[in-house]
Amino acid sequence: MSENPAIDNLLHETRSFPPPEELAANANLKADAYDEADADYEAWWAKQGERLTWDTEPTQTLDWSNAPFAKWYSGGKLNAAYNAVDRHVEAGKGDKVAYYFEGEPGDTREITYSDLKDEISRGANALTELGVKAGDTVAIYMPMIPETIFAMLSCARIGAVHMVVFGGFAADSLATRINDCGAKVVITADGGYRRGKPAGLKDTVDAALEKTPDVHSVLVVRRTGQDTPMTDGRDRWWDEFVDGQSAEHTPEAFDAEHPLYIMYTSGTTGKPKGILHTTAGYLVGCSYTQWALFDLKDDDIYWTAADVGWVTGHSYIVYGPLVNGATSVLYEGTPDTPHQGRWWEIIDKYKVSLLYCAPTVIRMFMKWGEEIPAKYDLSTLRVMGSVGEPINPEAYVWYRRVIGHDNAPVVDTWWQTETGSVMISPLPGVTAAKPGSAMRPIPGISADVVDERGESVPNGSGGYLVVTKPWPSMLRTIWGDDDRYVDTYWSRFDGKYFAGDGAKKDEDGDIWLLGRVDDVMNVSGHRMSTTEIESALVSHPKVAEAAVVGASDETTGQAVVAFVILRGGAEDDGDATVQELRNHVAREISPIAKPRQVMVVPELPKTRSGKIMRRLLQDIAEKRDIGDVTTLADSTVMDQIQKKLTGGA
Ligand code: WT7
Repeated sequence: MSENPAIDNLLHETRSFPPPEELAANANLKADAYDEADADYEAWWAKQGERLTWDTEPTQTLDWSNAPFAKWYSGGKLNAAYNAVDRHVEAGKGDKVAYYFEGEPGDTREITYSDLKDEISRGANALTELGVKAGDTVAIYMPMIPETIFAMLSCARIGAVHMVVFGGFAADSLATRINDCGAKVVITADGGYRRGKPAGLKDTVDAALEKTPDVHSVLVVRRTGQDTPMTDGRDRWWDEFVDGQSAEHTPEAFDAEHPLYIMYTSGTTGKPKGILHTTAGYLVGCSYTQWALFDLKDDDIYWTAADVGWVTGHSYIVYGPLVNGATSVLYEGTPDTPHQGRWWEIIDKYKVSLLYCAPTVIRMFMKWGEEIPAKYDLSTLRVMGSVGEPINPEAYVWYRRVIGHDNAPVVDTWWQTETGSVMISPLPGVTAAKPGSAMRPIPGISADVVDERGESVPNGSGGYLVVTKPWPSMLRTIWGDDDRYVDTYWSRFDGKYFAGDGAKKDEDGDIWLLGRVDDVMNVSGHRMSTTEIESALVSHPKVAEAAVVGASDETTGQAVVAFVILRGGAEDDGDATVQELRNHVAREISPIAKPRQVMVVPELPKTRSGKIMRRLLQDIAEKRDIGDVTTLADSTVMDQIQKKLTGGA
């Protein structure tokens, strides 16, 4: 495991921030929650299961007889969309706002729970007319607009499994995912707004569909009004087809373990993993955690500033807040469009009280300067979350002081696409949180740091993060690949879930996350596989071989740095080649995978068995002295590389 000296320093952090008194006194979860959950964790989760409205009550909380394939709330039947929407309308909360939508160009829309019920009933009827049935998969490739949420819930309402692909992914990535999950229907938009300009989405879908023979229908939401070719018999406008449907639709109850959605995430090999989440346990996990970790009250205005296309959006823009009947903000655009105070303007305007975002964006705000947020009234903020990567103490303290008026607790929440909802985090009304530490597993969750043999390390030591008991919102498998599910997560340490993260326990037993221990990078809180980017580079006609590493970066946490060997005969025209290769990766995978640097080198450092020693490349990328080279097959390789890089192309 590679140790990061910057994160090592965190362990000397001595500050801690206890909760404000008033918050502590009225907190949804108090300290006794830990004892209650520890005493009987299944009873704890049975109690959390009461958050849902069941058509048929479950008979067993956890069935772990076929481990690691879990069944939670067995025997129970329910409808996810009914739990997210209809039941609030039935309870007289139909006029409560579910979403304040704020489009990037400044257009706004208020969507109440009643509106939401009508929209998703029409959506459910429309999908049914297209032949979509319970258990079928539907691909969703959308900007951050209300229809994205309508589309997801329309699927859930009829038991169809949604598979949302982040709108920044390229055609090839979209096609791979559509084919892997077998989707026959795609929901998209003409485009979305990005940095003040309309950016096309339907054109990407058209390109992807050249490689997806089974897709028969495409629903297209009109967002930007840009020129959009439609294919006869396949493509339909959402406003013509869906808006004409009846707003009456009776939701059917499905099994507690009925699949709810698939979300693809990067693994250590090139092929992305389709993480499968099922209905009841997932809904329990995200509603419980949103309520507990943000101390959600009925009049809170909650904002997860993430994209619905990632798991954070699924759990904390859509399912968690809706199951809790909360009011959320939904913002389409980037933080600096049209100006660098846009977020604070939104918080001021809607009186946002709970904010959830990523360290990378906090570091960006720090660079822009504290005069910008100072112009707005942020006094309504009560609890602020952080997610996606370790938060550096500087960023944490800035977030708390400048945005949270030195009073709002910061909850540093550790979790993954696979875990479905937050696993390790302070409790805002209980924990004296240390900046940089995610602190402790939340009540109901059991996690530990273990050594190579899987044994718990003593306080003050580091190792691998594991989850030691199953939990309701855990992934159930990798879509279509049970073996890979077992291999990836449950084989390294007997009976324990291997998260792929390194971690340390400090002297108090609090947990500090140290980043991935596998070939996965974390760029701006997005997971990227080195192998996937290497494959994209090698698919370029000029490239013979490529090695990719994650190098630490002040803003994005890690940045993609690529080392490539050109094919014999390929012309190296310096900067032009570099730009060409960077753009190639952006086109093949996504602009977020675009390497910060591409270095053309004569050789790559390899062991005698032919394995690339990425550690040495990382030394170069992070401008450190080169470490031990004695295990290299050819010990002169590093000299050759350095000579080439310092001597210029
Ligand atoms: C990986 C999961 C969870 C939604 C967003 C990312 C890293 C996540 C933290 C945190 C340190 C964190 C881990 C994890 N990570 N949250 N609070 N502190 N690291 O989901 O794409 O599935 O990535 O993100 O490395 O394994 P994801």
